[in-house]
Amino acid sequence: MKGIILAGGSATRLYPVTLAVSKQMLPVYDKPMIYYPLSTLMMAGIKEVLIISTPTHLPAFENLLGSGAKLGMKFTYKIQEKPVGLADAFILGEDFIGDDNVALILGDNMIYGSRIERVLKAASHLKEGGIIFGYQVADPTSYGVVEIDSEGKALSIEEKPRVPKSNFAVPGIYFYDNTVIEIAKSIQPSERGELEITDVNKVYMQQGKLQVIPLGNGYAWFDTGSPDRLSDAADFVKAIELRQGVQIACLEEIAYHNEWISKEQVLEEAEKYKKTEYGKYLKKIIEQDFKQYKAIYESDLFDAGQ
Ligand code: TTP
Repeated sequence: MKGIILAGGSATRLYPVTLAVSKQMLPVYDKPMIYYPLSTLMMAGIKEVLIISTPTHLPAFENLLGSGAKLGMKFTYKIQEKPVGLADAFILGEDFIGDDNVALILGDNMIYGSRIERVLKAASHLKEGGIIFGYQVADPTSYGVVEIDSEGKALSIEEKPRVPKSNFAVPGIYFYDNTVIEIAKSIQPSERGELEITDVNKVYMQQGKLQVIPLGNGYAWFDTGSPDRLSDAADFVKAIELRQGVQIACLEEIAYHNEWISKEQVLEEAEKYKKTEYGKYLKKIIEQDFKQYKAIYESDLFDAGQ
């Protein structure tokens, strides 16, 4: 499976901060925002990633992330001339996707939870159709809301409904089979003039092929597109990192755990960041060899109580 990060858009809700700077480059506590969605794709086991942004901002992402080789990955870059909608990602990404399945994540979305890696890996094994998530929220009226049956099949999806049919908001991460390219090409722009991801999901839903994974207790999802949400996400990252002495979205750590890079490569990066907690953490994961716990994390022990 391949991955796409949509890191363009207008970011008007963050003006004037984003008048000259890309939203997805803003810090979420101690890392650029794009690290978080990138880490999500990495946790899903996705090595080849297409990064899409505006003509102005794309070069900055290339400077930041490079070829991906340092993470044992491969990054490709593509300009989106105008923000014509999320589903445009599959049209722009057609050559990149080739014959593969594809995951799309929005560049301003952050998902965190102790079991998220297993959930993402499971989604990445999709064979046919689409997989989206349903994140339980107290007030779903400002989100895309999905209603599901007892097997997790989507029954309805509504954008910002006044009377929501469920409490499951749809986060900005989606897994699709290869037919998504043709589906994206077949849909028409909405009233606001965008190729809507909801319309893509509705096609899969009408085919009875849209699976929803409910994210219940124990997951944090942030869309960092407004000042309040951005600040909430930063507070969350800070609280977890300081309290637990861990790093959220530490790209080298995930690459190391995925066995995409060696100990030596991690230590080389640690040297670059040695004045930061990020750098100290990289050294720590090698010295303490957290990998030894991997088998426990991945065992059925963690299914207890679920
Ligand atoms: P949005 O938050 O819906 O839009 P935006 O980022 O332009 O923000 P605002 O509403 O404040 O003007 O976009 C979600 C994500 O998708 C975000 O990371 C930007 C990205 N995006 C694109 O890359 N291309 C697009 O055509 C659209 C609509 C969004």
